[in-house]
Amino acid sequence: MRIVATTPFDGQKPGTSGLRKKVKVFAQPHYLENFVQAVFDTLGPVPATAVLVVGGDGRYHNRTAIQTILKMAAAHGFGRVLVGQGGILSTPAASCVIRKYGAFGGLILSASHNPGGPDEDFGIKYNSGNGGPAPESVTDAIYARSLALTEYRLIEAEDVDLDRIGEVRLGAMTVQVIDPVADYADLMESLFDFAAIRGLIAGGFRLRFDAMHAVTGPYAREILERRLGAPAGTVINGVPLEDFGGGHPDPNLVYAEELVAEMFGQNAPDFGAASDGDGDRNMVLGRNFFVTPSDSLAVLAANATLCPAYAKGIAGIARSMPTSGAADRVAARLGVPCFETPTGWKFFGNLMDAGKVTLCGEESFGTGSDHVREKDGLWAVLMWLNVLARRGESVEAIVRQHWAEYGRNYYSRHDYEGVESAAANGLIAHLRDTAASLPGTVLHGYTVAMCDDFAYTDPVDGSVSAGQGIRILFTDGSRVVFRLSGTGTSGATLRVYVERYEADSSRHDQPTQQALADLIALAGDVAQIAARTGRDAPTVIT
Ligand code: G1P
Ligand code: ZN
Repeated sequence: MRIVATTPFDGQKPGTSGLRKKVKVFAQPHYLENFVQAVFDTLGPVPATAVLVVGGDGRYHNRTAIQTILKMAAAHGFGRVLVGQGGILSTPAASCVIRKYGAFGGLILSASHNPGGPDEDFGIKYNSGNGGPAPESVTDAIYARSLALTEYRLIEAEDVDLDRIGEVRLGAMTVQVIDPVADYADLMESLFDFAAIRGLIAGGFRLRFDAMHAVTGPYAREILERRLGAPAGTVINGVPLEDFGGGHPDPNLVYAEELVAEMFGQNAPDFGAASDGDGDRNMVLGRNFFVTPSDSLAVLAANATLCPAYAKGIAGIARSMPTSGAADRVAARLGVPCFETPTGWKFFGNLMDAGKVTLCGEESFGTGSDHVREKDGLWAVLMWLNVLARRGESVEAIVRQHWAEYGRNYYSRHDYEGVESAAANGLIAHLRDTAASLPGTVLHGYTVAMCDDFAYTDPVDGSVSAGQGIRILFTDGSRVVFRLSGTGTSGATLRVYVERYEADSSRHDQPTQQALADLIALAGDVAQIAARTGRDAPTVIT
């Protein structure tokens, strides 16, 4: 065992989804070690039977970081580490493995949808034994510890061969290199009607899945092509690359351009989907048709009983605050509760553990259920395929019928990336200052009903998370929301969320940006976006 003296690193405060920094920051001497030791110190001594799950999205620095973590886990006294072959585990697969094998917890290495490579991003987070991201009380304790520790411990040993499935000893600890796909694929098969989906595909239904050179390639090939019989080539960009092919592995209309071009082109397939760097996000497309993530959650909830795992109905729905209210209408119709939580998946865990909700979703291309404690890209794809197989209608027809039944929540998010931090903080401070004076005022024809900085009290453990975003609600149910990203690694990202409800089905055909034009202009005015950020247009519109 080697004990290495270290000095605390400031700036290791985890954001919405763990600690994310440039690879160059993580590669500094002692930097990763500091964070990992802070995690282990926070957990305290573990029993000799304790199992740790380790894996990542395969991005640059993944293998190096895993070797360090294995030696530190052995020094901390873990009995066994389960690590995905090649260092690979998608985020939902890591959650599945933690739960299936009753692990103590897991370290997941990913910067999600952020680009990878020597000059790009890396990330790490700790998930608890329920398979979900550690709650804020734990991440706060990890951060506090990272500022105080003066040494870390690791054993002296050769690197482990991560490519060979099987067991090796590392000091007193066993390292078990596992097939990263099998457990997850089996779980999916237990949830959905694979026979019906197989029949759909055999009947000529055409689909395309874009893995964006990221972690879902091997998962999608096994499930879609091998188990469900989709033709070879259904999965594109299916080999995980350390730099994601130089791309931005974020499944949205901007970054998944190859898939989008095909789905909106001549002879488009019936169904298209993409996932992100670590496999927890999803984008769903029909032929010439985009399904917003907020609508996707609502449609899946409304059709859940068509899937074997949810045939008896759902307990409730949770959505992040900025996500549209479409799911709320489904919950009301089903007579189940709908919870509004702060941004970030970790807030759903308590609700799922307590059996209060079955389905969860975020506007940021995240959908999932209580089968794991992470959002799950391929799960959402399979649930859509299950619904499509059982209903025998097109994606567009299903969504349009949903709008006709429930009304349409026009919805869009405008991101201003790389804004100077002081300017972004100033903008939010300005909104906080004006919030109290806004109710009753009329902006661009909309009357403000309520304005606040969203705070959430967890209904299970009573913990309070304040300062989660400025909401301006209007009397007709429309809404604009402003918040700063907690996942960016350079400057600040301002996110502006705009929503308008339209009950009248003769008005469900407007282009989204046009339907929201007044609210978008209003948002720009009230937050003084142009003056404060120097930007006259967003970087990304979804
Ligand atoms: C973003 C999304 C959020 C999601 C998170 C992790 O966080 O907005 O919904 O949970 O990524 O995928 P943000 O950058 O907005 O803090
Ligand atoms: Zn992700």
